[in-house]
Amino acid sequence: MHSSEQRPYDVLVIGGGIIGLVTAWRAAQRGLRTALADPEPGGGAAQVAAGMLAAVTELHYGEQTLLGLNLASARRYPQFVAELEEASGLDTGYRACGTLAVALDADDRAHLRELHALQRQSGLTSEWLSGRDCRRLEPMLAPGVRGGLRVDGDHQIDPRRLAAALLAACERGGVALYRTTAERLSVVRERAAGALLADGTEVVADQVVLAAGSLSGRLAGVPPEVLVPVRPVKGQVLRLTVPRAYAPFLNRTVRAVVRGSHVYLVPRENGELVVGATTEELGWDTTVTAGGVYELLRDAHELVPGITELPLTETRAGLRPASPDNAPLLGPTALPGLLLATGHYRNGVLLTPVTGDAMATVLTTGELPQEARPFTPRRFPAVPPPPAPSVRQEQLV
Ligand code: GLY
Repeated sequence: MHSSEQRPYDVLVIGGGIIGLVTAWRAAQRGLRTALADPEPGGGAAQVAAGMLAAVTELHYGEQTLLGLNLASARRYPQFVAELEEASGLDTGYRACGTLAVALDADDRAHLRELHALQRQSGLTSEWLSGRDCRRLEPMLAPGVRGGLRVDGDHQIDPRRLAAALLAACERGGVALYRTTAERLSVVRERAAGALLADGTEVVADQVVLAAGSLSGRLAGVPPEVLVPVRPVKGQVLRLTVPRAYAPFLNRTVRAVVRGSHVYLVPRENGELVVGATTEELGWDTTVTAGGVYELLRDAHELVPGITELPLTETRAGLRPASPDNAPLLGPTALPGLLLATGHYRNGVLLTPVTGDAMATVLTTGELPQEARPFTPRRFPAVPPPPAPSVRQEQLV
C-alpha cells in the first residue's frame, strides 16, 4: 500500500552521496523545500574515495572544458569548506598540502614531461624537479625516482568527513531525509513529479534531481528517451596507518603512473595513508581482489619503499560513475522536472562545490550558470540500460 506525503516538496534529490547531499544542502539554503532519498545517506563513494583535489595533476588531453569546471571548483574549496564546517559544526579534513607527481623510469618521465607541457599550455602552475629535489621534499621516496612535477595547488579533503559534514548541514538546514531507496520515478502528465520509495511512501516534488552515481541509469520509471548514460568504473583503494613515530611519513600527496597504472598516496593529518586506485570496467562488481591489492602495494612500494612497515588497516572497492566523455551530467533532461547531477567519474570530490552551486542555480532559475552549460545531459542521445547489478555497491568519486 502506498502512503502519500500531503505537502509537495520543491525538490526531491534521489541519492545521498556527496553530490546528492551538496545539491540538497544548497537547494535548501536557497529556500526550496527539499527532500532526499537514500537508504544510507553519506555512505557510498565518500567511504572509499581518497579525496584528491587534482585539477592540475589529473589533466588529460581533450578535457580542456572539464579543466575549467575543475579549476572553478578547486578555487571555491577553501570558502566552501569554511561555510560547510560552520553550517555542520564538523571538520572536513581539508588539507592544502599540494601534490608531487613523480617518475620512476624513462617512460614515466616522458609521460610526466608531456603532462607538464600540457599544463603549461593550459596556463597551469607546476614545476619540474630533479629526482634529488623530489627526495629533498619527500625523503621517503625511492632512490630511483627520476624526476617529478611539483603541483602546489592540488590539495585534498577527507571524503568521509566531507560526507558527514554535508549530511549534518542538510539535517540542520531542514532537508527531509527519507532513509530508503527510491524505487520508481513518478511521471504525471509527461513531467517528473516525485518518486515512489521502497517503504511505500510516495514523495511528491516539483523537481527531481537524480544523483545516484553509477546507479542513476537504473531508476525505474525514467522514460527511454531520457535514459542516463552512466557506467560504473571500479576502483580498489587501501588504507594504511602511519604510526606517530614515523610521522611525517609524507608531507603531500605523492603519485605516479607506474607501467601505465595510476597510483597515489594521500597522507592525512590524522595518520591515515590512502593508497589508490585501480581502474576496472567490470560492471557493478565491488570485490576487493588479491590482484588489485597486490598491484597497488607493488606500485606504491616502488615509489615509497617504507610503506611495507605500515599497518594495512582497510581494503575497499567503489564505483566511479562515468559518462561517455568522462565529464559530469548536470542540469535538466528532456523530461520536464527531471534533472541530473551524476557522471562525475574521477572528479566527484573535486567537483562537489561547483556542482552544489550549479544545481542550486538551475533549480531556482531554470538556467545553468555559464560554467556548467557544457555539461548538460542533453549532449548525449539516450542509451539502453546495462544489466542489473547483483552485488552491493559503493560509488567512488
Ligand atoms: N580521482 C582519483 C580516482 O578516481 O581514482
